[in-house]
Amino acid sequence: MPADNMEKIVALAKRRGFLFPGSDIYGGIGSTYDYGPLGVLLKNNVRQAWWRAMVQSREDVVGLDAAIIMHPKTWEASGHLAGFTDPLVDCKKCKKRFRADHLLESKGLSMKGLKEKPTLMSEVKCPECGGELTDIRMFNLMFKTFMGPLEDAANTVYLRPETAQGIFVNFANVRDTARKRLPFGIAQCGKSFRNEITPGNFIFRTREFEQMEMEYFCKPGTDEETFEYWKGFMMDWFAGLGVRRDSLRYYEHPKEDLSHYSKRTVDLEYKFPWGWAELWGCANRTDFDLKQHAKFSGQDLSYRDDLTNERYVPYVVEPALGLDRAVLTFLIDAYEEIDGGRSTTTESNKEVETVLRLHPAIAPIKAAVLPLSKKEPLTGIAKEIRAKLAERWMVQYDEVASVGRRYRRQDEIGTPFCITVDFDTPNDKKVTVRDRDTMSQERVAIDELVGYLALKLGV
Ligand code: GAP
Repeated sequence: MPADNMEKIVALAKRRGFLFPGSDIYGGIGSTYDYGPLGVLLKNNVRQAWWRAMVQSREDVVGLDAAIIMHPKTWEASGHLAGFTDPLVDCKKCKKRFRADHLLESKGLSMKGLKEKPTLMSEVKCPECGGELTDIRMFNLMFKTFMGPLEDAANTVYLRPETAQGIFVNFANVRDTARKRLPFGIAQCGKSFRNEITPGNFIFRTREFEQMEMEYFCKPGTDEETFEYWKGFMMDWFAGLGVRRDSLRYYEHPKEDLSHYSKRTVDLEYKFPWGWAELWGCANRTDFDLKQHAKFSGQDLSYRDDLTNERYVPYVVEPALGLDRAVLTFLIDAYEEIDGGRSTTTESNKEVETVLRLHPAIAPIKAAVLPLSKKEPLTGIAKEIRAKLAERWMVQYDEVASVGRRYRRQDEIGTPFCITVDFDTPNDKKVTVRDRDTMSQERVAIDELVGYLALKLGV
């Protein structure tokens, strides 16, 4: 059973150092979160797993790391300046702020219905205090700042609201240097910023977040088949990293709700504790972005097929995933509470035990080394083993408390293997390796430990 409520995940994340509220000592600031010692490892591992699957293991995708602050014309061309807006209403009584489309949705109404019947909004009251709401104002989600010392319109720049545009403006650079024939993709991971009106659900929706996006450039006419491939890829990637398939589903966007650039969009959704919600979006962006940037920059963003001599502006299929949202999904899906505990020792069997069944490839700590005594020679041997394994993986050394308690500490943070150094170890040069999920124990020679773990971890 995955976690059924967010409080448990938020509490575990804070208690064990995965995530802290941003600027915690000042009382936090607007839904920002800081990744703690274990969180940063988990996040790095998820990013690396995505990179391995999306770039490293493929011949048709290359990587990129573009600047966050881009030429302001980018956002004119992409349509973000004019259209990257959310409808905003304020409560006249309690002054709280809401997204009008969310309020309408909760009443089974839609923004489309509003166009046909503008008085519809008057039927909606403040969900917090029942107060009257203001008229709708469209609010641009891009964060503004200034480039250089002068704070005027000519120097206004924006923090990118999606990483995708950094890829489109580099299409010609990559086309001319990477020696790739179409179809090929450009992938990048990096920070994006959106001044969300209602961030929430922990790291699900924040104002500063990381995206992992890939723009796959293909010949017009092959885009629909390409779309099907990447749609399947999204589900398989999460399932391959252990997420239950029955907690994943596709949502096809109705034609009338598509973004201005999209011919088709399908979201991979996850069954979060509050309901199904978007995890990874796949959009057929057609040739919209390249044509817009060609128009605004005056540059040629077409592609010439050197075999057929055909020249065309490629179509683009875009699988776009939020890194923080992926981290949250893995945490929720891996979380399991066992009433009364799994161990049979009297000390533990009254407690609720938490096991984070993270896939070994993304687990923050791969193994913990636990000497059965705090004295030599066991501690010396255990420290040597820790140092050897640390050349390759993140490992922990722990000599504090009973071994049962130390196992449970590691189970709670998702460590796949615990290595116990016991009183036989100095003689037989072997250790006991305990598997987090099955709790089975195996005696392994110290000399063979690295090979043994490499095989089991797969990384
Ligand atoms: N380039 C297309 C694009 O940005 P999107 O659906 O707006 O599309 C892609 O975003 C993904 O980025 C989403 O599926 C989600 O995982 C993540 N994402 C979007 N807004 C987010 C936010 N405010 N906080 C965290 N993740 C977000």
